[in-house]
Formats: sequence, structure tokens, C-alpha cells
Amino acid sequence: MHKITIAIDGYSSTGKSTVAKQLADWLEYVYVDTGAMYRAVTLYAMRTKMIAEGKVDTPKLIAALPQINLQFKREGGAKAEIHLNGENVEKDIRHLNVSEYVSPVATISEVRRKLVEQQQQMGEGKGVVMDGRDIGTVVFPNAELKIFMTASAEQRAQRRYNELLERGDTVTYQEVLENVLERDHIDSTRKDSPLRKAKDAIEIDNSEMNLEDQFHTILQLAKDRI
Ligand code: C5P
Repeated sequence: MHKITIAIDGYSSTGKSTVAKQLADWLEYVYVDTGAMYRAVTLYAMRTKMIAEGKVDTPKLIAALPQINLQFKREGGAKAEIHLNGENVEKDIRHLNVSEYVSPVATISEVRRKLVEQQQQMGEGKGVVMDGRDIGTVVFPNAELKIFMTASAEQRAQRRYNELLERGDTVTYQEVLENVLERDHIDSTRKDSPLRKAKDAIEIDNSEMNLEDQFHTILQLAKDRI
């Protein structure tokens, strides 16, 4: 069967990854969570003390990029998980402290260049569902299907807050809301590859949609293009 590339972009915590994963499973496509890659680079920078007093040591991080190896590996679970230099860091990258620094790290062009190149390689053969901020605009500008997901900031913060609580994190709703707004601001105002809707992307506001509705809406759009 003819395979396509599906790009899902949008603001933080719009539920992109949940629906992207479902679609990839159904279509038997590869799913790539590009946010996990930026998060893993951020975790590396934090662990190696390149982030101190709220500031990223950009030259040091750029120099260390060749030492950062990212891979998605499936270890029996339903989803391929991100590995940083061989270590599964899927859980560690979700904490709020990583969320606080990931957007500044993602403004660094050298970081983006490295990750975009790897993302393009992963999607080379099509049959991929990739979610992020710049997939339809930069990584795969020729993707057959581009989705741009939105929802109110409060809804998004509530969803992320519930997720973090389920994982046992101790955070407040207010902290999560502030982080979501801060990341949206940095992501959409940065110079390199800012978050924006591609001209040919289909916008889906999922504030009032359940998961099933989102899945079926996007699946139908995909089927129309396969
Ligand atoms: O998708 P997630 O919320 O995990 O992404 C974390 C951060 O990584 C985003 O807020 C953004 O700063 C950055 N990112 C990016 N480009 C992508 C994916 C994520 O800049 N394609």
C-alpha cells in the first residue's frame, strides 16, 4: 500500500503524541516523538551541569553535540522509548525540571540541525507519523498530511497536570500552566523554526473533542491521502 508522511504540530500538551501513537499503530507506521529528542538533549545538558542558575551554556552544549547519541528502541512495551547514549531516559525527560529548560535548548540552531537531520533520516521511507513543532514547516515540508493541533491553555495545562500527578510528581496546576504558556511563547517567537501552522496544515482544536473523535478525524484525513 502507498505510504505517506503524517506531520502533527501544535502547542505544548495538546495531546499530539497520544493521537500520533494511535494512528501509527493503526496504520503500522513508525511513530517519532521529536519532543522527546529535544528533552533528551536538555537532560544531557542538565546532567553535565551545562545548565546552571537557569542559564544554558550554549557554546559548551554545541561542542558536546557529537557526544550525544539518541535512539528510539522498543523494549517489549507498546512504544519505542528514547535512549540517551544507550540509557532509557523516557521517564526522566518528562519531569517538570526538564520541561523548564527544553524550550531554551530548542532555540539553539546547532541542536535543531542535528535533530532535524536524524528526524529526516527516520522518515526517509515514509510510513511515519511524527509530532513536534516544526515537522510540517521544516522537517517534512512535503508531508502529505499536516495537522496543527490547538486547545485552550487551561485545558492543556490540566491534561499535563493530571499526567504528572499520575506519575507521582509533586507539582501544582499553576506551575504547569505557567510552564505551558512559557514554552508556547519561546517556541513561537524563536528565530530558528518557530512554531507556526504550515499553510497547508489542517487545524484541529481538540478542546471539546475526546480521543476517539480526534483519532477518527485524523485517520479519515490520512485514508483520503493513502
Ligand atoms: O512535545 P514536547 O512538549 O515534549 O516538546 C518539548 C519541547 O521541545 C517543546 O516545548 C519545544 O521547545 C521543543 N520542540 C521543538 N521542536 C520539535 C519538538 C519539540 O522545538 N519538533
